[in-house]
Amino acid sequence: MTTDTPLQIVVLAAGQGKRMRSALPKVLQPLAGQPLLAHVLETAAALSPERTVVVYGHGGDAVRETMSARDIAWAEQAEQKGTGHAVQQALPELSDEGRVLVLLGDVPLLQAQTLQTLFRETPEDGVGVLSVRVADPTGYGRIVRNATGGVQAIVEHRDATPDQHEIDEINTGVFVLPARQLSGWLDRITPHNAQGEYYLTDVIGLAVDDGTPVSATPCAGYEEVMGINDRVHLAQAERAWQRRAVETLMRDGARVADPARVDIRGAVTVAEDVFIDVNVVLEGEVRLGAGSVVGPNCVLINADIGAGTTLFANTYIEDSRVGARCNLGPFARLRPGADFRDGSKAGNFVEVKKSVIGEGSKVNHLSYIGDSVLGERVNVGAGTITCNYDGANKHQTIIGDDAFIGSGVELIAPVEVGRGATIGAGSTISKPAAADALTLERARQRTIEGWERPVKKK
Ligand code: UD1
Ligand code: CA
Repeated sequence: MTTDTPLQIVVLAAGQGKRMRSALPKVLQPLAGQPLLAHVLETAAALSPERTVVVYGHGGDAVRETMSARDIAWAEQAEQKGTGHAVQQALPELSDEGRVLVLLGDVPLLQAQTLQTLFRETPEDGVGVLSVRVADPTGYGRIVRNATGGVQAIVEHRDATPDQHEIDEINTGVFVLPARQLSGWLDRITPHNAQGEYYLTDVIGLAVDDGTPVSATPCAGYEEVMGINDRVHLAQAERAWQRRAVETLMRDGARVADPARVDIRGAVTVAEDVFIDVNVVLEGEVRLGAGSVVGPNCVLINADIGAGTTLFANTYIEDSRVGARCNLGPFARLRPGADFRDGSKAGNFVEVKKSVIGEGSKVNHLSYIGDSVLGERVNVGAGTITCNYDGANKHQTIIGDDAFIGSGVELIAPVEVGRGATIGAGSTISKPAAADALTLERARQRTIEGWERPVKKK
């Protein structure tokens, strides 16, 4: 379509989706971690419409609440009397300028590019329907063409003649229509059909009668226009979405051990030569720097991973940033606010929360670092714990550059360890530890001669 034709979009999302067998409204069922409707609205937004109106009904409050951050208008369809009736509810929100695109809230894989093709192939003042050829058209509306191939009508399965049942070109439910004529056509639709509903599809026949150009543009693949009616469809769509997302990553430079065993639930960007091993889950905003390695079973949620960094198996990262050339895991856990600077390390069973791990610093084994700032080249021994929580408040631990914390140390925050300080293993540190000195807190070791072990009573 030419850029000066205003576009308005109506998304039909009032249906209940009974076949989902779920308390959650159908359009809020998750696909790749986002509600179905969010996918549709993302495609809609990519077309830069003047306005997007969502027709809602079942689960209305939940649907509106979930989508509240978006720039859309809402139209309630209290009773579901058919797709034509649904579009009619949106009319008060629409102007009669330009074109109206009708999308379905349960068709999440549709691409903006396909809609651009539909716009191009439909005359400016005409009606266009996105169609698709399928092996089994049972249940769908059929595209009825005349001898010269012109579109005459859409006939719903239940209203079709046996001859029409043979037609394998079906209505995807996606239409583009001239705004000016839409309300007139909708007024003329009647519910005199097998389902007693106001069918949007009847607009086709009315437009043909009015001498309006009508065309059907076949879409290349069924997958893109598949409607989600039950959880089997949902799982099929999930796989299709995942395949597409992982292919994008591979084209952008990621080597993926098995494209079928990565799950992407958000916006992931990769630089060249990233390697992603099996069973990796990437959620929210994830950025993987050049040459970074994501080991098997890693989960990354809103994570920024620097170039050349390796995440060993089973590393779990949430809302955190990791610099270049770091090594994390296996079995490391970064909770929100972990900030690993270049060349730093966290080994197995290390948990880090809201802490800076300075350049070249290492926390290699079984430790908890929370609300802390570690300088550069700090070495934290095995089993060290920052006691950051007194039961009411969180307190900070500060460790200076080049400090060496022995194994099994408890740092009772708020507390500060000076630069170059050494803390003896097993110490419980609750007062400032001086720079460049050894501080230790340890009961003296004793041996009790002649002590005997208790014996079990008979
Ligand atoms: C519809 C089409 C059919 C097409 C099929 C594609 C009509 C009459 N039929 O049939 O030609 O092949 O989609 O999947 O349009 N909705 C409302 N309010 C309503 C009714 C429906 O908002 O009163 C919404 C639903 O939430 C859904 C969409 O419209 O997102 C389609 O409705 P559905 O009942 O699934 O239509 P089908 O019978 O599948
Ligand atoms: Ca349907």
